[in-house]
Amino acid sequence: MIASVPNKTTCSNIAATNGPAAVAAYLEAENKKSTLRFLTCGSVDDGKSTLVGRLLYDCKHIYDDHLFALARESRRHGTTGEELDLALLLDGLEAEREQGITIDVAYRFFATDKRKFIVADTPGHVQYTRNMATGASTAELAVLLVDARRGITIQTRRHAFICSLLGIRHLVLAVNKIDLVGFDQRAYELVETGFSALAASFNFESCTAIPLSARHGDNVTVSSLRMLWYNGPTLIEHLETVDVENRPLGKPFRMPVQWVNRPDLDFRGFSGTVLSGTVSRGDTILVAKSEKYATVARIVTYDGDLVEAVAGDSVTITLAEEIDISRGDVLATASRPPEVAHQFAAQLLWMGEKSLFPGRSYILKCGTQTVTANITEIKYKIDVTSFERLAARELGLNEIAFVNVAVSDAIAFDAYAENRKMGAFILIDRLSNETVAAGMADFTLCRANNVHWHAFDVTKDIRANLKRQRPVVIWFTGLSGSGKSTIANIVERELCALGCHTYMLDGDNVRHGLNRDLGFTEADRVENIRRVSEVSKLLLDAGLIVLVSFISPFRIERQAARDIFQDDEFVEVFVDTTIEECERRDVKGLYAKARAGVLKNFTGIDSPYEPPTKPEIAIATSTMPAEKSAKAIIRYLTERSYFDPI
Ligand code: ADX
Repeated sequence: MIASVPNKTTCSNIAATNGPAAVAAYLEAENKKSTLRFLTCGSVDDGKSTLVGRLLYDCKHIYDDHLFALARESRRHGTTGEELDLALLLDGLEAEREQGITIDVAYRFFATDKRKFIVADTPGHVQYTRNMATGASTAELAVLLVDARRGITIQTRRHAFICSLLGIRHLVLAVNKIDLVGFDQRAYELVETGFSALAASFNFESCTAIPLSARHGDNVTVSSLRMLWYNGPTLIEHLETVDVENRPLGKPFRMPVQWVNRPDLDFRGFSGTVLSGTVSRGDTILVAKSEKYATVARIVTYDGDLVEAVAGDSVTITLAEEIDISRGDVLATASRPPEVAHQFAAQLLWMGEKSLFPGRSYILKCGTQTVTANITEIKYKIDVTSFERLAARELGLNEIAFVNVAVSDAIAFDAYAENRKMGAFILIDRLSNETVAAGMADFTLCRANNVHWHAFDVTKDIRANLKRQRPVVIWFTGLSGSGKSTIANIVERELCALGCHTYMLDGDNVRHGLNRDLGFTEADRVENIRRVSEVSKLLLDAGLIVLVSFISPFRIERQAARDIFQDDEFVEVFVDTTIEECERRDVKGLYAKARAGVLKNFTGIDSPYEPPTKPEIAIATSTMPAEKSAKAIIRYLTERSYFDPI
């Protein structure tokens, strides 16, 4: 039982007893200590909260008022009898998390005489991948908990795998609840043997197993007298001494430009944080992406100029040469530049509720760079329990895969294994703005890098002028049988009669050739629309008025299609016919088949349709016959001078 309540050591109580000089000495000593960032992981019941609570408690980092409240709460709600239930210290946060109020990862700070610690406490429920990815991105070490009674479980294997994937180099296996197996050496050794076998599959620099009881404090900060057979360090001794130096200074210099600091015409500096390496006045650096070289003129900080800046410093760099640099550029060691690529291979941890589909467009953020991106191929996904590589056409929540990524503008990166900060990226859903994936860049796909864009003499404008029209894509969306093709057909006929040059892309027809390989799963529809968008762009470049008639059921793909055109080049027409009406007409007999269960994934029946929210033109077919609808579209184009009628 914990009898006395320790006091927290603070600046104010040092000052009260020893005076200001003692405070200065205390602060200086604190500043000199190194900081270890670590992460706790493991199953929900393995005792993570108790362990973190125990570390905070034993290292005297709990305020008195919290302790009194804890003692009260422990008596009332605790599961530990008369003792403090240290897990309750963290439970306030758990409750908030459950209600979705707080962030997924809580960071806690504590210190001993030797080191400062930042622990990312990640909840162990099903969202583990997401939370671990967030917590692990800066962690140097992971404490992986197992229950001594259960040993290595599937969850242990998963978490070890994710730690390794996220570049954590040091692992501690905390064999917890050893009291519940009577502090038995054999029980511990069984777990340790299983762990050694598991650890051999990975490339950790250090793997240490420690038998402990978070609840009773054995081998956490105090060596246990009940496990005399154990000669290793306590958890805190290990955390205090483990060498996790990842030597960012030895790596090449990298500084992503956060903003261009231009207070007046005489000063132009590039501000950011040095991610790795060092940079000195007079160094030749390279601006990745533009591939321009420049000489560092000054390294400006709030406290005056520096001769040299090192990883972790926030600085403003001025250059001797006038070159064009903007936010998102990366300043780098000239002799060891980062990769710059339009396509690259990466590991991906999918965190979206909705699946990932190759071809779907996402926002990719890598440091200060923001681009649009899509996954061009899932090479394989990984079964995190057997570590087998499996074929996949989509990725669900918490799945991990090796993928090829294509981005709209080249990005500068280093392989995540070389430089975590330069190789980490996230994917964001374009509509909901949620982070849906954490990615770790691996290598450039060379085939893509060696393909260059040719600018030809005959341009889109020249082609269009010859046709006396402004090219435009008229994108018809709506349920099957809503009347898209019927209306599009009349519009094209009318346009031709008016002397326009057109082309029609129709779902059923394109699926006979170019998209013959695609069916009607979500993944295939995403790819269907991606290809059609690209073809429309080519036809638009030919100077044509392009009519596109596809169900195109997903908002995100229609938005992605819109985004590859200029504002006045894309007109979305929503052919708004109710499902009841489409089903009543059932021209192709497909609704009947879908209802009978013969046809699967049928739009509106067992596959969704997301109507447009802001189409340029909406046609309610119940009140407007096809001829009249077509006229409305022609009027829209004439009013905006898309062509000169002959
Ligand atoms: S989309 O959803 O990928 O945009 P697309 O417009 O190419 O579909 O093709 C739709 C046409 O395919 C429909 O008009 C219908 O004739 C036919 N079809 C066959 N099976 C399905 C299905 N399961 N869902 C919708 N349309 C289908």
